[in-house]
Amino acid sequence: MKTVMITGCSSGFGLEIARYFLDRDWSVIATMRTPRDGILPPSDRLRILPLDVTDAASIAAAIEAAGPVDVLVNNAGIGWLNALEGTPMQVARELFETNTFGTMAMIQAILPQFRQRRSGIIVNVTSSVTLKPLLLLSAYTASKAAVNAFTESLALELAAFDLRAHLVLPGRAPDTSFATTARGRITGEGGFPEPYDDLVQAVMARFQQPDDAITTSLDVAEAVWRAATDANAPMRIPAGADAVALSPGA
Ligand SMILES: NC(=O)c1ccc[n+]([C@@H]2O[C@H](COP(=O)([O-])OP(=O)(O)OC[C@H]3O[C@@H](n4cnc5c(N)ncnc54)[C@H](OP(=O)(O)O)[C@@H]3O)[C@@H](O)[C@H]2O)c1
Repeated sequence: MKTVMITGCSSGFGLEIARYFLDRDWSVIATMRTPRDGILPPSDRLRILPLDVTDAASIAAAIEAAGPVDVLVNNAGIGWLNALEGTPMQVARELFETNTFGTMAMIQAILPQFRQRRSGIIVNVTSSVTLKPLLLLSAYTASKAAVNAFTESLALELAAFDLRAHLVLPGRAPDTSFATTARGRITGEGGFPEPYDDLVQAVMARFQQPDDAITTSLDVAEAVWRAATDANAPMRIPAGADAVALSPGA
């Protein structure tokens, strides 16, 4: 039986990815900053472990407790929407600490066992915002584009050990708590700088419009499944109709 380890399973994509793999008879290590029982169906193939991807000791403990893993899914992430001028450097650093360095640190921690077994797959969840520049997303996009770049380079060195790395690029998914959590962070940091009011209004008005093409958590779980189970899966896998529309040839 194969084992998948997933970061950020308390909600949204991570929770759905865990469910999806459990339904397909995989052994699932669902990690969360604050473990909660009852959000996933009980199963003797499910283990819930505490993990904060910004904390080196937490990473070491989770990897030790996990034991052999076949697929690592780096899904944990935080959002932010603001002008660069309205983005305190502390927030920019937090975005990179979680989205970028947290992903790197998890990969560093899992690689020794993958390399020794010459078997293992890494799936990094980034975002379709890296495919098309969007207003007020410079800092968040940078944190995800950095993951795209390092994953594509990393894949070259991993291939020498028969290991694979993939990127899953979800589009906008209003069904997760991502935007609400980001909104709380933006308000907590003082909101948007006044000179950017018109831009902010335009972006907010755009969000209010009904979208025919959005992404669901199921789209993301299916894309991660493809990366995990299809040896010929492409390096970049868009997830969701909007992300697919931005990915020529996908
Ligand atoms: N929703 C979208 O529109 C969208 C689009 C493209 C890409 N994405 C990306 O998809 C991923 C999942 O997002 P989502 O939409 O499912 O949002 P979500 O519901 O807010 O889930 C984010 C998850 O990341 C976890 N997390 C945050 N900081 C963490 C840390 N330091 N260590 C471990 N876990 C941490 C959260 O845990 P807590 O409960 O402890 O906070 C939560 O489980 C993120 O990487 C996000 O950037 C989202």
